[in-house]
Amino acid sequence: MANRVFIAGNWKMNTTLDEARALAKDVVEAVGSVGDVDVAVCPPYTNLQAVAEVIKDSNVKLGAQDVHWEEKGAFTGKVSCAMLKSVGVTYVIIGHSEQRSYFNETDETVNKKTKAVLASGLLPIVCVGETLEERKSGSMDAVIEKQVKGAFGGISAEDASKCTVAYEPVWAIGTGETATPQQANEAHIFIRKIISELFGKETADTIRIQYGGSMKPGNAKSLLEESDVDGGLIGGAALKASDFAGIVKPK
Ligand code: 13P
Repeated sequence: MANRVFIAGNWKMNTTLDEARALAKDVVEAVGSVGDVDVAVCPPYTNLQAVAEVIKDSNVKLGAQDVHWEEKGAFTGKVSCAMLKSVGVTYVIIGHSEQRSYFNETDETVNKKTKAVLASGLLPIVCVGETLEERKSGSMDAVIEKQVKGAFGGISAEDASKCTVAYEPVWAIGTGETATPQQANEAHIFIRKIISELFGKETADTIRIQYGGSMKPGNAKSLLEESDVDGGLIGGAALKASDFAGIVKPK
């Protein structure tokens, strides 16, 4: 594992305002002064501002779960990069499989969002990953290649190096089923190869690739020990500060 580890908690559609404040406080107590790992929490939009306040004197950074690519205007229900920046957001998750499967996210919208996020100075976490059917049918590599190339089309190597990629096999998300460390690493090596083809080896080597899918304290260490796993994007286990801490500081 060559790159600095980056662990982000994706709270998804969980936490009311009070719950978010309490969870953020617990996360700060548990991992807020960790120095050798980058840590972020990604609460729902409604709680970003409150969580920003709770984490402001710690090493925990703020992420959002999505964004719209337009700057402003008549886009009911949407939130812009400038709005996220104004409440203290650093990272933006883009192209999560739940967005892709339930809310019509496509490689094209992922690309638009990635460009908008980079242009605004925020840092994208671009999610890719195959379904179980795609893995079983042998189309996994083609699917991932299409998602990576789709996300990064028209982006410079310099901008690409600011991105994190999250490999999240859909069959491992919220299912309790985890990719084995070897399966995760193979996918990460493949993603790095595509990034190398697009942007060269230096960018490919420095871009961080997180694993996401039922990552928890019990399996974090073995996943993070793999050569190409640079961190994790955590769903369920990010909703309990002690579990999240067990991934940030795995034993
Ligand atoms: P789980 O950790 O709940 O499987 O979710 C992973 C995920 O989707 C993070 O974005």
